[in-house]
Amino acid sequence: MRTAEIKRRFLAHFEANGHAVVPSAPLPAIEDPNLLFINAGMVQFVPFFLGQRTPPYERAASVQKCLRTPDIDEVGKTSRHGTFFQMNGNFSFGDYFKERAIPLAWELSTKPVERGGFGMDPERIWATVYLDDDEAIEIWKKTGLPAERIVRRGKKDNFWSMGIPGPAGPCSELYFDRGPQYGPEGGPEVDEDRYLEFWNLVFMQYEITNVVSKEVFDIVGELPAKNIDTGMGLERIASIMQGVDNLYEIDEVRPILARAAELTGKRYGAQSGRAASQSHPDDVRLRVIADHVRTALMLIGDGVTPSNEGRGYVLRRIMRRAVRAMRLLGWQEGPSLPELLPVARDCMAPSYPELAEDFDRISQYAYGEEEAFLTTLRSGTTILDTAISQTRSAGGGSLSGAKAFQLHDTYGFPIDLTLEIAAEHGLDVDQAGFRRLMAEQRARGKADAQARKTGHADLSAYRGVLDDGGPTHFTGYSEVTRESTVRALLSRAGGELRAAGEGDEVELVLDHTPFYAEGGGQQPDQGTVTVGGGELEVYDVQQVVPGLIVHRARVLRGEVRPGESAYASIDVTRRRAISRAHTATHLVHQTMREFLGESATQAGSLNAPGRLRFDFNTPGAVPFSVLNDVEQQVNEVLLSDLEVRAFVTSLDEARRLGAMALFGEKYGDEVRVVEVGDYARELCGGTHAARSGQLGLVKILSEASIGSGVRRVEALVGIDAFSYLAREHVLVSRLAELFRVPNEQVAERVEQTVGQLRDAEKELEKLRAQLVLGGAAALAAQAKELRGVAFVGTEAPEGAAGNDVRTLAQEIRGKVDPARPAVVAVAARANGKASLVVAVNPAARQRGLAAADLVKGALSGRGGGNADLAQGGGLPANEAANLLLAVEKAVAES
Ligand code: SER
Repeated sequence: MRTAEIKRRFLAHFEANGHAVVPSAPLPAIEDPNLLFINAGMVQFVPFFLGQRTPPYERAASVQKCLRTPDIDEVGKTSRHGTFFQMNGNFSFGDYFKERAIPLAWELSTKPVERGGFGMDPERIWATVYLDDDEAIEIWKKTGLPAERIVRRGKKDNFWSMGIPGPAGPCSELYFDRGPQYGPEGGPEVDEDRYLEFWNLVFMQYEITNVVSKEVFDIVGELPAKNIDTGMGLERIASIMQGVDNLYEIDEVRPILARAAELTGKRYGAQSGRAASQSHPDDVRLRVIADHVRTALMLIGDGVTPSNEGRGYVLRRIMRRAVRAMRLLGWQEGPSLPELLPVARDCMAPSYPELAEDFDRISQYAYGEEEAFLTTLRSGTTILDTAISQTRSAGGGSLSGAKAFQLHDTYGFPIDLTLEIAAEHGLDVDQAGFRRLMAEQRARGKADAQARKTGHADLSAYRGVLDDGGPTHFTGYSEVTRESTVRALLSRAGGELRAAGEGDEVELVLDHTPFYAEGGGQQPDQGTVTVGGGELEVYDVQQVVPGLIVHRARVLRGEVRPGESAYASIDVTRRRAISRAHTATHLVHQTMREFLGESATQAGSLNAPGRLRFDFNTPGAVPFSVLNDVEQQVNEVLLSDLEVRAFVTSLDEARRLGAMALFGEKYGDEVRVVEVGDYARELCGGTHAARSGQLGLVKILSEASIGSGVRRVEALVGIDAFSYLAREHVLVSRLAELFRVPNEQVAERVEQTVGQLRDAEKELEKLRAQLVLGGAAALAAQAKELRGVAFVGTEAPEGAAGNDVRTLAQEIRGKVDPARPAVVAVAARANGKASLVVAVNPAARQRGLAAADLVKGALSGRGGGNADLAQGGGLPANEAANLLLAVEKAVAES
């Protein structure tokens, strides 16, 4: 039974039993930040199980595309591991439970093939149940399975979860006994190769959290309803129904494997016996290729493209593994995917016709990626080969870590490939040395980043200051000025200074400061510090090492020395504008989550005077209407004039209060929480407006993608937002004036005018063509007779160029009686140059006249075309008439 037929029967069985047939979700798991790819049939239904959304149906069935890569190294080595696979599933959302799920599965499995079932021998079916699930055991017995083929198993095998927080439950699995040739008797406990699991019935009734492993997690509680989630591995059931050993040999995969074998001249399964094939490197590689090529096709089909991170990197790795496996099988002929991918397409298109329609795009990505990888391989291999022969001729047994590192760093040549090729030549690689160099490079990267932030690669001067005097006290939450003492002066080069004078650029450390150091997306304060008779202008403030705030400043006048008392004063207007932006960011964040869901988490932000940038995770563009709603709601919060309050509390308490925290950020036990009334609550160290009303106005300007799954909105706040709107208003009023309509009709009028312009251009085009072509018949009628050839030589009307000239030549030629040999030459002048087109009809060609020869003759070799039509140009415009004469002469002398 073909795989497509198995899918059809599965869906038909459940549709007949009242299930809605639901299409597969695309492979990228865009709704769940914890998952890269959909890895089970139930993923698209998670919100239904959790009671977060009301399902439009109570029962559903689907064939879901899935991807699992944790076991990628097992692919090809066992009969069960594939990266891409499909899962047939039936689902109940609070409708039926075990009592119906078990008989439904049994019925389809055992119903005879001629009556639409899978016709499995009931004697060969086994079931497992969760330890204490007596209820399931009773239902199995009643359904027809004898007690001796029902096995109790523990959490590891019979409690199913996604491996992340979410719905979960005990399960019952169906196994098929493939017979003694696969292994010993005794049921699934004894041998899972002989007893192949083909269907998992999950009794979804709990929500879990704190997932450490498959067996260690906390149960949050019962789900709102008792649900069913079943998953039948389509490739597994297909391998059973088709009587083949493993999933690479079913109808949807085998042809890819066969093609790879053909290309590389290998005979799949040449080794007799199952065990031999399982471990034979050639067979393993062929299976890897079959699996990975199909997976690449499905991934690109669902919009994933190769890249260096996230989903794109998974794809890249899979494709590279396939290309390398081909190479290791001896394929040397360049790209292999053009040979393999179309086979995969033909295998999958019966179920996924969109793959065939979209194949141009899919193959472009795939072939491009392979080309790039082959280039890497080629350059790397040459260098590696040289290094290998040098090592060997020097009598060494091991390739240096430096060489492996250079290959990786300069040529992007993967280390595992270096290891493999070296091993083929009987050499080791100094892996410890390689790892050390990698670590050093990482450390350098960090130091560079540090140097960019601090201006110093070496932080010891800062550490010294910190050790001597302890952390700087930041007082800027409540003060904008502060009496303080100069604790240290540093030069921008990093050394401590004893004094600085007018014009010097310094770094100033104070005991106490109201200056906010750049952090949490908030820009630093600016302002002045006066010391004795001196004054400094502060233009940047950074926390260079945790706890130490330095002011980057220019000495405007006087002298400054450590130990002197100082008066620090920030630019209050700037600070207020920044604080307003920061509060606005919290409001936008909270509101985005309300409209787009909890997964719209912050990925970055910038709070600058009067404007903000907010980056967040969400799969696609935010519709314009949603942005409008977000903007409106944010502004309503401003009008409510909520109090903004900041307080310090324990991390636990903040969590209990539901404060939003940034993913991946480390927090201490004590955290600062900023809340805007009851509307938004977030962990934050920044400064804020005192009340939401102070923000005045928030105007969202734009929304755009800045990377896969990350979007950015930019907005203006306060007077900047107002000025923007005021400018827009002036602009619209000006347009309205120009178009002589009221403001609200401007868009309509512009649309109208653009339409009219387009029509007028079309009309103009038509007239020009008529003008150029209109004279064709008259010109043909005036053809000169030159030794039996009708010759027309004419200059095109002014302004005619390119296409027009060619068309005119052809038109004239078409108006001459085809029985007469005819040559038409049209010269044109445009942009100070003369050009020539010659058209020759078949009767004249029979006489040996060729358009290309005539053009080249007239233009001394320049020009191109064929016997029928040719053109050339480049002479000064005043040569146009001479060109025609030259052609005429050539015809007359032919
Ligand atoms: N969610 C279960 C599985 O993936 C059943 O669909 O096995």
